[in-house]
Formats: sequence, C-alpha cells, structure tokens
Amino acid sequence: MRSVVSFNESWSFHEGFGQHLLDAFEGHPTISLPHTAVELPFNYFDETSYQRAFTYQKALRWMPEFEGREVSVVFDAAMADAVVYLNGEEIVAHKDGYTPFEARLTGKLLKGDNLITVRIDGSENPEIPPFGGRIDYLTYAGIYRDVWLKVTDPVSIRNLKIETHNVLSDEKSATVRIDVANPQGLACVGTISASLKDTDGHVLATASGETTDESITLSFDNLTDISLWDIANPVLYEIAVEMKTSNGSDRVSSQFGFRTAEFTPEGFLLNGRPLKLRGLNRHQAFPYVGYAAGRSAQERDADIMKSVLKCNIVRTSHYPQSKWFLDRCDRIGLLVFEEIPGWQHIGDEEWQQESIRNVRRMIERDWNHPSIIIWGVRINESLDSHDFYVETNRLARELDPTRQTGGVRYITDSELLEDVYTMNDFILGNEELPGANRPRTALRPQQENTGLSRKVPYMITEFGGHMYPTKIYDQEARQAEHVRRHLEVLNAAHGDPDIAGAIGWCMFDYNTHKDFGSGDRICYHGVMDMFREPKFAAWVYTSQCDPADEIVMKPVTFWARGERNIGGVLPLIILTNCDEIELKYGNLTKRIGPDRENFPHLPHPPVVLDHRHFTPDELGTWGLEWIDGEFTGLIDGEPVASLTLAADPLPTSMQVVADSTSLKARERDTTRVIIRALDQQGQRLPFMNDNITLRVEGPAKIIGPSSVPLQGGTTGFWLEATGLVGNITVEVTSPRFAPVQLDIVAV
Ligand code: GAL
Repeated sequence: MRSVVSFNESWSFHEGFGQHLLDAFEGHPTISLPHTAVELPFNYFDETSYQRAFTYQKALRWMPEFEGREVSVVFDAAMADAVVYLNGEEIVAHKDGYTPFEARLTGKLLKGDNLITVRIDGSENPEIPPFGGRIDYLTYAGIYRDVWLKVTDPVSIRNLKIETHNVLSDEKSATVRIDVANPQGLACVGTISASLKDTDGHVLATASGETTDESITLSFDNLTDISLWDIANPVLYEIAVEMKTSNGSDRVSSQFGFRTAEFTPEGFLLNGRPLKLRGLNRHQAFPYVGYAAGRSAQERDADIMKSVLKCNIVRTSHYPQSKWFLDRCDRIGLLVFEEIPGWQHIGDEEWQQESIRNVRRMIERDWNHPSIIIWGVRINESLDSHDFYVETNRLARELDPTRQTGGVRYITDSELLEDVYTMNDFILGNEELPGANRPRTALRPQQENTGLSRKVPYMITEFGGHMYPTKIYDQEARQAEHVRRHLEVLNAAHGDPDIAGAIGWCMFDYNTHKDFGSGDRICYHGVMDMFREPKFAAWVYTSQCDPADEIVMKPVTFWARGERNIGGVLPLIILTNCDEIELKYGNLTKRIGPDRENFPHLPHPPVVLDHRHFTPDELGTWGLEWIDGEFTGLIDGEPVASLTLAADPLPTSMQVVADSTSLKARERDTTRVIIRALDQQGQRLPFMNDNITLRVEGPAKIIGPSSVPLQGGTTGFWLEATGLVGNITVEVTSPRFAPVQLDIVAV
C-alpha cells in the first residue's frame, strides 16, 4: 500500500545554484513550502528580482519502510526549469512551471542521511512556454506548490481515468482505466477491484479484473438512481481501486461526477440543458507571495467566484492551476476552462514540443474533474500555427475524447482547428480609437469574428481588461463606466444565442511586467482588487443571481454632490436583482424598475436613475443642501432590502473580517482578512487612505508588511499559521478608529 505524506517542511533555501550546501543538516533556519523565492512589495518593484537561480535542499533520512519499495518526491509544481538531485546525482529535470513531476529515488537512497537538492531558475528561459516574448503577468520563482513524499510497493497504480456514459439515461455507466506503474518491469500478475461509492461512502457497485502490465479498464453498468453533477447541485461520486499483485498492492481513489457538457453552434448545454456561461478569468497570483499560496487560499478563490461573484465559469488564465482550486470547483459546482501555459508568443520546434507535453500533463492530471468542461490547447492569443495546433488538438482528443477543445485568440478569421471558437472580443472601446468611425459595440456577431460561412460553437473568453483599467479608488464616474461596460457585454452575450457565454477580464487586479499595467506593476483589470475586495463592477456579476440565492442592491455611487463632473449622481446605476428600487431623497420619492430598454437580455438588468426619471432640478442643483439617499429594494411589491447613503459620511467603525477564524496549524494554513473603513451607514469610505497597523500574537504571521495603507477605504492581508496550535490575536489599529481585535485559533 502507498503512503503519501507532506514533504513541505524544513527546506533550506539559498540564492544561486548550490550543490553541496549542507545547511539542511546543520540546524540553519529553514523554510516551508509553498514558498516564493522573492517576496515582492505590493507594487513598484523590479520583476527581474526573482528572475534568477535558487536552490532548495532538504535532508531525507533513510526509513525502514523504504526497503524494497518505490520512493519518490512528488512536486505539484515549481517555477521553473527545476532539476532535482539526490546526494549530488541528477534525478529528474522538469521545465514547465505549472505541472507536477516526480523524482524517483528508488535504489539510490543511502541508509543514513540523504540530501535532496532542487535547483530552480526563475529567469524567463525562452526555451520554455510561456517565455520567449512578453507576458502580461508574473511567473514568480519558487517551489510554490506542495511537495509530497510518496512510498509505494514496486508495482503500484500510476493514474486513474474515469469516464461516464449514457449520462442522461436512467441507466448510466462508468469506466475506470487503471494505469499501472511498474518501473522495475516486474511480474505483476494479480487482481484489481474497484468500487463506486456515493458521497457518504456507500458502495453502489463493484467491478474487478486481472492486472495487466500497462492498464486495465473496469466498467460499471446499469447504474440507476444516480444524481447528475450540476452547478446547483454538484453531486460527486468516487471510484476506489484496489490492486493486488505478486509484487505489490495499492489503493487509490478519485472523485468524479456524472454530467454532460457540450458547446453547440446554438450555445452551451450542461446535462442537455442550455446554460449561458458567465464568468471571469483568474490568475493564480496573490499580493507579496505571488503564486505561493496554499490550499485554503486556492479554495477561497473558487468560493469567491461562486458565492460572491455568482459566476458559473472560471478560466484558469493562462495555465493549469492548483489542484486545490480545481477540487473546490468540483465540490461547489463552478465550471472551468483550463488551458496550457502561454501568452501570445510561440517559440521554436523544441518549445512547441514542450507545449505539446504540457497538453498531456494538464489532461492526465485533470481529466477526472467534472468541473472542467473544455481544454484550451492554443497559446493564449497566439497567431495561427497550423502544424502545432493540429497536434495539440489531436493529442487532447486522443487523451480525452469526452471534452471539446478551445484555443483562445483575439485575431479574427483565424483557423479553427478546435471544437469551439474561443474569442477574446475587445471591440468595446474601439469606438474611441482616433478615426475609428464606428458605433459603440459590446460584442461582434460570431461570424464577423470567425469569418466562417457557418455557425460554430463559440464563446467569449475575454473582454474588458486593458480596454478600461479601473482602480478600487478611482473616481465614481470611471467606476460607473467600468460597470456599464461589464453590463453591456454580459447583456450582449445573453442576447445572442450564437454565443455560449462570456468570461470577463478579470476576477482581480494582478502584478505584471513593466510592459503592461499602470507603471506600478499592477494591471488594474479586476472587478476586485488584489485582496479580492469587490469594486462596483463585481456587483454586475453578483446581481445576476436569483434573489432566492441573495438579494443584491448596490448603487454605483459614493453619494456626494461634487464627485462627478458638473456635480450630482446621475445617471445612477443600481445593480440589483430586485423588481423595483424606491429612492427617497427628502420629499421626493421615485420607484423605478429595471432598465430593460438598455439591457433587455440580462437576467437582472440594473435600475438606472437618469433624466428619464428626474428633472435636473429634482436631484441635485449645485448649491442646494445635499441630503441622505434612502434606497429600498422591492420584490413583488414587498420591501426586501434597504440602504441609506449618508450625505455626511464620517469615519465610524473599522470592520475586520476573516474568511476563517480557525487555521490548521500543521498545514501552515492561511486565512484572508479584509479591513474596511466604514461610515455611520456601514458604507466603505472611498477616499479614506489612512495607515493601518497590524500586530499578531500567537502562532501565526502576517504575509506582507504589518503596516499598510487603506486604498479606497479598504485593505487586506493573509494570516499564516506558523506550525503550532494555540490562540492567535491580531490587533488592527489606525489613527481614526477604535482598535479592533481579531481572535483566531490554530488547531
Ligand atoms: C488579453 C490577454 C490577457 C490580458 C488582457 C488584458 O489580451 O489575453 O492576458 O493581458 O488582454 O486586457
């Protein structure tokens, strides 16, 4: 049987390439994984600071259970160009920074202390995708995902591949292909049995067979009373496989779901039912530590997409992301577009071969995730490259005939070798180009982009982004326009049956190279800031949910007389899923329904207060007294939400919210903490930029600086357990508010 245990603790870390550093044996301070080689400031830094070599080392003492067994170290990912040595001898090299690899130590371990050395190179080696050109994101160096020590018998299970069949019939079936690992080429006569279990662990069916040298497929037929995996009810099943051979036994299981996912020229079907896809792109980046965020931070991003932004799809732009993130998407019912690493640039033949290997690594790692509905097998936004993309598509279809392929492009009339034409449509905003002479257009019809004479499965994979960068502390008029653009594109996507859906650019702001962004190494393209705090545009997505899920009423305003040009707050967009909004402003009362005139296709158009409802005198002549605005949201004529926006906002309280108040000590778990400066009505003070000081007591530390400014009345940080159990208190102080104490426990 196998044992797979965390190998994250007690690594020594050095700059440069070192082979014979022995700190790992000598009690020097050590680090734990996931780890970023260079912590960066929030913005304004030199991204070349991590683009160099680093060495990680760890001692592995011989253990009796290694005797006669397979021993390896599994790296979930390391950025980049990793080479692993055991006692000075090279064991494995893995160029890609996003996929897992294994260093097989069997037969080479000394019966005493062994030294594992991992050399990584954060420089942008042009031989490795995505490098060779410029890329609009950072690829932070480090062993930034988990590492595991894996011990198995000589013959073990390498991988499981689960496929489902007849999913929409009453009687469904499933197959599991069991790939055998037998690196020593031993006899592996024996038996394999598999059981299919529901989420409570009840065995629903079993199957068994004889082992073979390479792989064996077992089937489960005539399965009845099976629930489908759906976004509203993501029911998971599990197949557990047990193998017994003359040279070893093993037990492995994998979760999966019964669902169909199909892009058609008429839109996307989940389990045969039309579903308009609405989502955002996600980078796997975090402030200061870049990619090096562990399990709960990854899971939390999926949760935010689902339960804060109410999206039904995420694109893992532009590379395979953490398994923790994908596992969570399976569990919560968030669809995923996953793609290979790359950004615009296509390298030489060897580079392309590495990219083709990335297709294999991505699919073989992730084919059991029901959340993944499409493989992206083109370098994001690259030009056509016939032979290269014939091969990535061929391989994807061979490895996984159950999923369609896509290839993200921004060029029109590009060669369609994929099953789905996946398009970054940045047309909105082009009307501003000098001499453009074109009307404002949210999205183009698909055939204008594909240039094809027929309709094909078609999805928008990006819009927004650099066409209208917007900061959480930007002025109100700009944020309102940011909102309007997201509304317009979603409305267009909802209104066009030829478009399967639209995935916006992007979920949150991200650090980037000097060639992109606002000069401070940030692309302010998110509907959230880097701490995942919503900008107004976030509520565009949230407000599309059913009111039974959550009632949303977010006026896109700071409610001030003089923040906008000329003054006043009109036109005022209220992002809402209510039937009507009533605004009281002194003696004036107006009740207004959703703006179906301008946003006819959205499930929940916003309410827009403008000249259609007010005379200029009614709301806000310069020089008159400015008074509170009272908003009431109504459904079926009943009040369901209320909100007052203060005419004289004053700093009243500091809100400190942790995603979780308990941390798993041994996992060095983290939680995100958000700080907000609020007025007397509980609204964020948008221009409060005071300093906040953080002080921690107990077994935890702040990731990043302990003194931070509010930006747009908010900031955040991640708190990380340092390994011991115990009570943690975080004291948050600022000159304008009473201190707040946060109690967290590490268990
Ligand atoms: C796209 C690209 C994204 C991001 C975005 C900014 O062209 O695919 O990675 O750079 O532009 O809007």
